[in-house]
Amino acid sequence: MSFLDASKATSYLKEYAEKDGLSVAELMDSKTRGGLTYNDFLILPGKIDFPSSIVSLQSKLTRKITLSTPFVSSPMDTVTESTMAIHMALLGGIGIIHSNCTGEEQAAMVKKVKKYENGFINDPVVISPSTTIAEVKDMAQQFGFTSFPVTESGKLGGKLVGIITSRDVQFHEDSSSPVSEVMTKDVVTAKVGISLLDGNDILRTSKKGKLPIVDAEGNLVSMLSRTDLQKNQNYPHASKSPITKQLLCGAAIGTMEVDRERLSLLVQAGLDVVVIDSSQGNSVFQLEMIKWIKNTFKDLQIIAGNVVTREQAAELIEAGADGLRIGMGSGSICITQEVMACGRPQGTAVYNVTEFASKFCVPCIADGGIQNIGHITKALALGSSCVMMGGMLAGTTESPGDYFYRDGKRLKTYRGMGSVDAMQKTDTSANASTSRYFSEDDKVFVAQGVSGSVLDKGSIIKFIPYLYNGLQHSCQDIGVRSVEDLRSSVRSGEIRFELRTPSAQFEGGVNNLYSYEKRLHN
Ligand code: IMP
Repeated sequence: MSFLDASKATSYLKEYAEKDGLSVAELMDSKTRGGLTYNDFLILPGKIDFPSSIVSLQSKLTRKITLSTPFVSSPMDTVTESTMAIHMALLGGIGIIHSNCTGEEQAAMVKKVKKYENGFINDPVVISPSTTIAEVKDMAQQFGFTSFPVTESGKLGGKLVGIITSRDVQFHEDSSSPVSEVMTKDVVTAKVGISLLDGNDILRTSKKGKLPIVDAEGNLVSMLSRTDLQKNQNYPHASKSPITKQLLCGAAIGTMEVDRERLSLLVQAGLDVVVIDSSQGNSVFQLEMIKWIKNTFKDLQIIAGNVVTREQAAELIEAGADGLRIGMGSGSICITQEVMACGRPQGTAVYNVTEFASKFCVPCIADGGIQNIGHITKALALGSSCVMMGGMLAGTTESPGDYFYRDGKRLKTYRGMGSVDAMQKTDTSANASTSRYFSEDDKVFVAQGVSGSVLDKGSIIKFIPYLYNGLQHSCQDIGVRSVEDLRSSVRSGEIRFELRTPSAQFEGGVNNLYSYEKRLHN
């Protein structure tokens, strides 16, 4: 047997009739293969000739909004309120604030995100001059810090009259004395609008621990703390408006008449992007809502959905959607496919909708079913620009709700917006989960989601960088230097895929160990 010249192996490969593996079109040929989801296939590795740290994850959320990281938190009442939205934006993604509350409450959350300034304590614990020293000592124990600004009203926004620190109360014997007797009245302050850098300088030169920020009338607006400054992170990827420099914020609304009033409040609060939250997006109500928004709030970006077919997408694109949200039945808390007989396996849905929407330059979000970094890479490879996560971000420090213990585990509640629990929180006629999963004239809730719990995942300040670095490494293995490159090389047929049989999936997981611990990051 004669062998070919080894020094010509790569040029020989170029002449080889067929590329190894499957193209995305072959992989996603649902007529012969049926619908696929993320675990059903793998991406074949490419060539590594660059460090993973240079991989750009910049991607479009909508026609006009580009994010540095393609991560979006879901509008669910156990996932995204202002704290989550602030941190998602600081870390380069965006949070979509849920609407299972009144329009006023939702607008207040949007405002909190838009007014957030990194490093400033925007909701300091404030006391009044009549608070006693005993109460201050109790508060110090409860909150774990020892300095409190004192205002005339005892509230944020009141006139600043002093500051009390541990040194002021430590050796004062009469615990019933009011703080007005011992507080420091000659307070070093800074005017609202001061930069973090300048505030830091004042703290350093004045040798104070706290710097209250006041407005022109001397009312307390926020505070800077020396200990916080030392801890302060730099957020180089933060998603900000190029004009106002405020963090970007999204919020969900329904498709009912009252949602128009809700949206007006949200826009007044500074909203950048609205998500029309509907489990089946192709409805006359949504089409009318898109057209109304386009006429009323010309600068507001609209993400429409949810869709899983090209036909649904076409209607929403034609009505004016600036982005689409893809997924029906793929969420971790979702029973839609079981109950409604409608939906589509998520991989097939993402491929078909993005393939169509890309012709009109409409970016798409893959929503639901994301369980790990591999799923994120696959969702992007199939054509989505961003991924929306619910379960992955539930149970973090920034998600709403308190931790509780069960079976020795620290947990938080995570529930579907179509679960009976969420739908029962109907305190307004504009209740979001009701409008998403329930028609106004229905008498019985037909649940499309469940309510459960998830493990404590720690803070997203660590978790999102883990996803970020993991995605960069994944792109490096595939041989692409950006998310943009990933998508275009898939479409051109350069990046190849392989189907996974059930035993291949078993092989890809940890197996044949007596015991192991799965730690995902340090
Ligand atoms: P996860 O990331 O897999 O947990 O899925 C989150 C997504 O599930 C959300 O962004 C919604 O699209 C979807 N979803 C939320 N609540 C429900 C529900 O009650 N039923 C069905 N889907 C839901």
